[in-house]
Amino acid sequence: MARRKLVYEGKAKILYEGPEPGTFVQYFKDDATAGNGAKKDVIEGKGVLNNRLSEFFMTGLGNIGIPTHFIRRLNMREQLIRQVEIIPLEVIVRNFAAGSMAKRLGMEEGATLPRPIVEFSLKDDKLGDPLVPEEYIIAFGWASQQDMDDIVSMALRVNDFMSGVMFGVGIKLIDFKIEIGRIWDNDFMRLVVADEISPDSCRLWDVETGQKLDKDVFRQDLGSLSDAYTEVARRLGVLPSNVTHRPKPTLIN
Ligand code: TMP
Repeated sequence: MARRKLVYEGKAKILYEGPEPGTFVQYFKDDATAGNGAKKDVIEGKGVLNNRLSEFFMTGLGNIGIPTHFIRRLNMREQLIRQVEIIPLEVIVRNFAAGSMAKRLGMEEGATLPRPIVEFSLKDDKLGDPLVPEEYIIAFGWASQQDMDDIVSMALRVNDFMSGVMFGVGIKLIDFKIEIGRIWDNDFMRLVVADEISPDSCRLWDVETGQKLDKDVFRQDLGSLSDAYTEVARRLGVLPSNVTHRPKPTLIN
């Protein structure tokens, strides 16, 4: 079989040319990075879990009428997606203070925000993905005012869906990041949720204990990242059969 053409390799995923025009194959790696690549490791099984979890969330969004790039899962690590033109922004929605917001404003981690807050970072690793106001985005032409209005309302709908689904399995959605892409049908443009939605791009805390079940486990050395992601997948009922935690074999004397 001819080797597939690699289109783009990022920190956690690879894009290959898809089987039909207008499609890509998105491959989920086991690599974990934090601090803009300063901390790196390989977490066995992470790619398999994120492939399943992203499929679960994107399918759920599609079912409530929020368009996404997702077409179908192909195998354990790959999914078929629509080719999109990525808007170079990280769209972040926060329900509770954490991470860079808590640090910037001197807030206690976990403090309830008065309402969900949507913010934008420019996707630029060299600059460390700086926070940018909507004014910059429109002035520099990264997106139009109409795009921004649509992106904010889409991000808030994704937040309502994700918060509800996670709360149903005893998990609080602290914050998350999505990326938005454009799909062109001749002159007609549509915005869709792209990239991935997984515990790599969300903050997820157990409702009862406050235990972290997301990439902060890796960022802050809090234990096993694969155990945390497996727990999220288990609660959502999307645990792939060969990543289940089997009891360790016992030595028989
Ligand atoms: P932050 O508190 O570090 O700004 O992150 C907010 C949310 O966005 C958090 O859920 C992690 C996610 N995120 C990413 O997925 N990728 C990124 O590059 C950044 C900066 C944040």
